Amino acid sequence: MILTRPQARIKMGYYPTPLPVVDRIASFLEFPDENVTLLDPCCGDGAALSRLAQGRNAETYGIELDQHRAGLAREALDHVLACGYEDARITNAAFSGLFLNPPYDWAEAGETERSERKEGLFLRGTARYLRPGGVLVYIVPQTQMRNGVARFLSYRFQNFSAFRFPGEHYDEYRQIVLFGVKKRRGELAGDDFERLQAIPRETLSELPCLDSPRYSLPPGGEVRLFRSTLIDEEELEQELRASPLWERLRYDNNSTGKLGRPPLPLHAGHLGLLLASGQLDGVVGDGDDRHVVRGKVEKVVHRYQEYEGERRVEIEVERYQVSIKLLRQDGRIVTLM
Ligand SMILES: C[S@@+](CC[C@H](N)C(=O)[O-])C[C@H]1O[C@@H](n2cnc3c(N)ncnc32)[C@H](O)[C@@H]1O
Repeated sequence: MILTRPQARIKMGYYPTPLPVVDRIASFLEFPDENVTLLDPCCGDGAALSRLAQGRNAETYGIELDQHRAGLAREALDHVLACGYEDARITNAAFSGLFLNPPYDWAEAGETERSERKEGLFLRGTARYLRPGGVLVYIVPQTQMRNGVARFLSYRFQNFSAFRFPGEHYDEYRQIVLFGVKKRRGELAGDDFERLQAIPRETLSELPCLDSPRYSLPPGGEVRLFRSTLIDEEELEQELRASPLWERLRYDNNSTGKLGRPPLPLHAGHLGLLLASGQLDGVVGDGDDRHVVRGKVEKVVHRYQEYEGERRVEIEVERYQVSIKLLRQDGRIVTLM
């Protein structure tokens, strides 16, 4: 069964963190006077991260694959990318806190070599954005604290605390909240590994609301890079229509048959758009550096399956992928992106 878009929008592993749970999580965190940077790499509508940062000196960053939820997140958070976290380029080790409540699901065929849960994939794919000393808040079903996840966590993080969701919030998906602090250097800690590995079989205590926080967030680093490598068709159209530079290029192109000189130097974003749209295809460079450039934007379709109770549903998400290739004089093809 193929879900229609509104149905697919509802799911895609969307299990938002209840706000009373977010409030308890917030009671564990001490915010410094300096500005902190918080990242939620699968932020849903942004409500959870926004609540966590409420009234604090914090800059919030979210990524969300579902376009509708990403639109809502734009209202709630300071910076939002509407794409998968896999398609984002982000400064490493820049964030004070990583709020990670990944989809509870299996990775789709082709995403990984062997069948793997998304809880572990998201953790491994986003832990690098956290600063040493930064605080991880990891929310997963208790059974998903598997060996691979426990090993990764004990290698990269320390000072763990784990609790189950309070009261009735635990009943449906049996989620836990795990806090941990990013180590300066990765090193396996056998004790932590054993403790984490045992979590699926333990009866954890309920997440309390603390009177004094247990984890201090470090000040945020400079987030120099936070952008998607994908070009959204609508955004591209809007940007091109709104850009005076584009008007000028089109005018020059129509009157002379080739690209004119832009009024301002192009920055990397402009060049990316021109390359991807094929406007700069052709032979460029001199001498040994002479080569052929070819840019294109392709539609790619991600397919994956989810269970709604007993029912298996197929979900399709379409996105646009930019690729730019160079053909060098020695016959080598170099893929730039
Ligand atoms: C469990 S919800 C968590 C939402 C929010 N962080 C919260 O705690 O309330 C997971 C979210 O991840 C989104 N998602 C799924 N795959 C994604 C991907 N590859 N990159 C970014 N977001 C993704 C889903 O659309 C969903 O909104």
